Amino acid sequence: MCGIVGAVAQRNIVPVLIEGLRRLEYRGYDSCGVAVLADGGPRRARSVARVADLDAQTRDTHLEGGTGVAHTRWATHGAPVTDNAHPIFSKDELALVHNGIIENYESLREMLRGKGYVFVSQTDTEVVAHLVHSLYRGDLFAAVRETVTHLDGAYAIAVEHKDHPHTVVGARQGSPLVVGLGEGENFLASDALALGGTTERFIFLEEGDVCELTLERVRIVARDGASVQREVRTVEAYGGGVELGPYRHFMQKEIFEQPRAITDTIPQSDSFDASLFGENAAAVFADIDNLLILACGTSYYSGLTAKYWLESIAKIPTQVEIASEYRYRDSVPNPKTLVVVISQSGETADTLAALKHAQALGHVHTLAVCNVATSAMVRLTSLSFHTHAGREIGVASTKAFTTQLVGLFVLAATLGKLRGTVSAAQELDYVRQLRHLPAALNSVLALEPQIIAWSDAFSRKESALFLGRGLHYPIALEGALKLKEISYIHAEAYPAGELKHGPLALVTDAMPVVAIAPNDALLEKLKSNLQEVKARGGELYVFADSDTRIASEAGMHVIRMPEHYGPLSPILHVVPLQLLAYHTAFARGTDVDKPRNLAKSVTVE
Ligand code: F6R
Repeated sequence: MCGIVGAVAQRNIVPVLIEGLRRLEYRGYDSCGVAVLADGGPRRARSVARVADLDAQTRDTHLEGGTGVAHTRWATHGAPVTDNAHPIFSKDELALVHNGIIENYESLREMLRGKGYVFVSQTDTEVVAHLVHSLYRGDLFAAVRETVTHLDGAYAIAVEHKDHPHTVVGARQGSPLVVGLGEGENFLASDALALGGTTERFIFLEEGDVCELTLERVRIVARDGASVQREVRTVEAYGGGVELGPYRHFMQKEIFEQPRAITDTIPQSDSFDASLFGENAAAVFADIDNLLILACGTSYYSGLTAKYWLESIAKIPTQVEIASEYRYRDSVPNPKTLVVVISQSGETADTLAALKHAQALGHVHTLAVCNVATSAMVRLTSLSFHTHAGREIGVASTKAFTTQLVGLFVLAATLGKLRGTVSAAQELDYVRQLRHLPAALNSVLALEPQIIAWSDAFSRKESALFLGRGLHYPIALEGALKLKEISYIHAEAYPAGELKHGPLALVTDAMPVVAIAPNDALLEKLKSNLQEVKARGGELYVFADSDTRIASEAGMHVIRMPEHYGPLSPILHVVPLQLLAYHTAFARGTDVDKPRNLAKSVTVE
């Protein structure tokens, strides 16, 4: 999704801006651009290719300057063509970059046309550029502050003006924006990650903030117009390398990083303690009698898995809802609810808005399960659990998902212990199982050659069905999502018992049916469901625990998983599905790490 980088410095800042864009590339984008103040006005380069092409353009044209704004764009309004790429100019006097969506851009455009502004792009951003220009009376900070009072929607912006050679003004509402503090230079970015290696001191702007960056100073004004001092935080972890090592793609690397990521996420202590979730977690956990989980995409599927754990282990009623649905429907708030948001990035617009909606309804008990400790969601919730997946570059989430599952399992076990449904012996057993998980994952990863052998057949299909039951139904959903997002093969998931209520009609030898077959209480039921598929000529691909007595035969291909892993089995069973999606996509030659139309961090609605 769109990324912003801005800078005010006394050196040529273009290499820093380009490096910032490079660091944001993983979020997904379809054009990019940079503008610096030089020769009395803004000068820019834009590209509908990659940041590397933009970099080459800036070198070829000697685009240099100390004050600049840069952008990666993920198209919302208007196609990914050069005219729509940011920075957007107004009258060749100011340059502006924008993330988010301006909902009232049509009425603003009409108003600005009436004032003589000519629109050369299809973007909603252009109205913001012209609006700032129309309100400018010599003070850029004042013009931006007035501009934002006219905007509806979510945005983060950065703007520079020819009359202010050492100033960049930023504003945020609904989209993230951070200030990076340097020595005699200052920076803006939509993610602190963009400024790794440049600075470690950051101010995370709050909703409604407008800021002015000059060489020596950062001024921030809150929504109510008051000047504010925001906390300066040190964020060290962002300089980290993003090398591929021996892997072909980041997704493959991240799949293989899961044993390490899970080791880092499993709590060190030998017991499940409320303090794992924050200082006042014990008091909060004592005051709740149900959970409401809100998330999107893959994170939603980890929430669905958690529901099974929370209701079976902690016996606590749990509702899981897609964040973008929850935020727009009437719901009945309950002060005894713990609202849990799950997010890799912690910035997903829909989940963030759902959290704020829940808070506005009066929910006070909130918890984030999140991979970015400094994210908006972690800052907004009273409790949090930090997953230590490390940076996830591939758009398709893998290690973030399995580490979320670890965090949610720990939550279920902790609540179970507090509620008396988990005995001391059971607690020890859960701790033991968690500790053994990385080794068990390594043996699942060793199945890769067998999965590669299947992927060839898959790569020639156009549709696939995924089946799971109980705790493994959300894993089937996740397997189908992985396959469709990176291989572009249509895939659907069903709880296997639902087959005969409709989807069985789709089964032919042209559509592979993937089944997750753990040796759990539903195994015999699942075996009957598999027979229903076989009897209709379907081609089955089964991931079966070794003790299930499911064997390969005509129409049924079986890969043996390690022995059944109890309640943690979903964490093992999702891994071959990730590998199947990856190798199928690779065989089809898609852009695995940056699948078409998708972005990593979905910061617009
Ligand atoms: C799919 C995927 C997405 C994200 C979703 C939520 O592989 O990655 O479905 O899970 O966009 O993102 P986060 O977890 O950052 O809130």
